[in-house]
Amino acid sequence: MITVAVPGKLYIVGEYAVLEPGSAAVLVGIDRYVRVRLTPVSSVDPVVRTIITNRAPGRCIEFISRGACFEPVSARTADAVGLSHVLAALAIVDRYAAESGHEPVGFTLEIDSQLDDSATGRKYGLGSSGAVTVAVVRAVARAYELPLDPDAEMKLALLSVFSVDPHCSGGDVAASAHGGWVYYRTPDRAALTAALARPDTELGALIRQPWRHLTVRSLPPPRELSLEVGWVGRPADSSALVAAMKRAVRHHGSAYREFVTASDQCVEQFATACRSGDDRAAELALSTAGRLLRELAAVSGTAIESPELSRLRSLAEELGAAAKSSGAGGGDCGIALIDPARAPALRQRWRAAGVEPLNLRVPERKESIR
Ligand code: PMV
Ligand code: MG
Repeated sequence: MITVAVPGKLYIVGEYAVLEPGSAAVLVGIDRYVRVRLTPVSSVDPVVRTIITNRAPGRCIEFISRGACFEPVSARTADAVGLSHVLAALAIVDRYAAESGHEPVGFTLEIDSQLDDSATGRKYGLGSSGAVTVAVVRAVARAYELPLDPDAEMKLALLSVFSVDPHCSGGDVAASAHGGWVYYRTPDRAALTAALARPDTELGALIRQPWRHLTVRSLPPPRELSLEVGWVGRPADSSALVAAMKRAVRHHGSAYREFVTASDQCVEQFATACRSGDDRAAELALSTAGRLLRELAAVSGTAIESPELSRLRSLAEELGAAAKSSGAGGGDCGIALIDPARAPALRQRWRAAGVEPLNLRVPERKESIR
């Protein structure tokens, strides 16, 4: 049996701008995991795979993948477990393995996600699609005994998520695959998905070659600040928000380009501040990143900082913290960087205002890759 556990993620700075090839974001891998248990089975064709998710406790979905049939998953259930991401991850590892001369292997997969609240099925926005993709790629590559180094594994996972949705930046995959505090610059996804779609493309060659712009680097965390995370009680649909933003900025091209340039500067300032241990500069960059997102929302007429996220931020700022929405916004989580001595007061204030403080930690890199 093979088991893997892959951390979920949170965006720190750089959201939306990181959708532009060559633009960057900073994310963290957090100590809530997607776990995959893979049990080899002797039947190879068709392969039966089972998914268990704690979003719908006790529900199992069985499906047959390499045969023509695919059942019995309703569209809604498939969506709830991120089935399209699971299938894409299986397909990409199968393709890579077949290219390198491996016979198909049979297995049962059980997937268990801590990224949402198991009791209520609430979604926190901790990046289950990226984490589940990395977890499936890692587990299935081990079943095939493929010698994948961390870079190759991450690239397969990135190709997999881009094949499902070329509009996502892949930052969640980088954070989940790498762990810790991560600086991520997104590659040219259109070029990669076009290459992937060509039947003559050799996956092995594609993942061995350097990808233009792609950068994934560890960052040291801010030196003496605590990262606090609050959940505002409303799940948000990131891909719908990204689609709305894409539509809206078509009419505001120059404002959008200015936003991307300013966000990139801000991400560089944040990363430099982390590397040099300058906590004040990190706080300033984080606040600026939040302001840029609010300005983008105002120009484009989309909602990023919802009223609840705005309340979360004001309560943190009143205690001298730097705070902002995290990820696409509209709901999910907000974050604050705060003097650890004031963190309990912040949690108390958030709680009183209906914001749920999440007890999350950012495990160090070696701890988080398990
Ligand atoms: O809401 P989240 O945590 O899934 O983050 C979305 C971040 C965006 O930059 C808006 C989209 C992306 O794919 O990077
Ligand atoms: Mg979100």
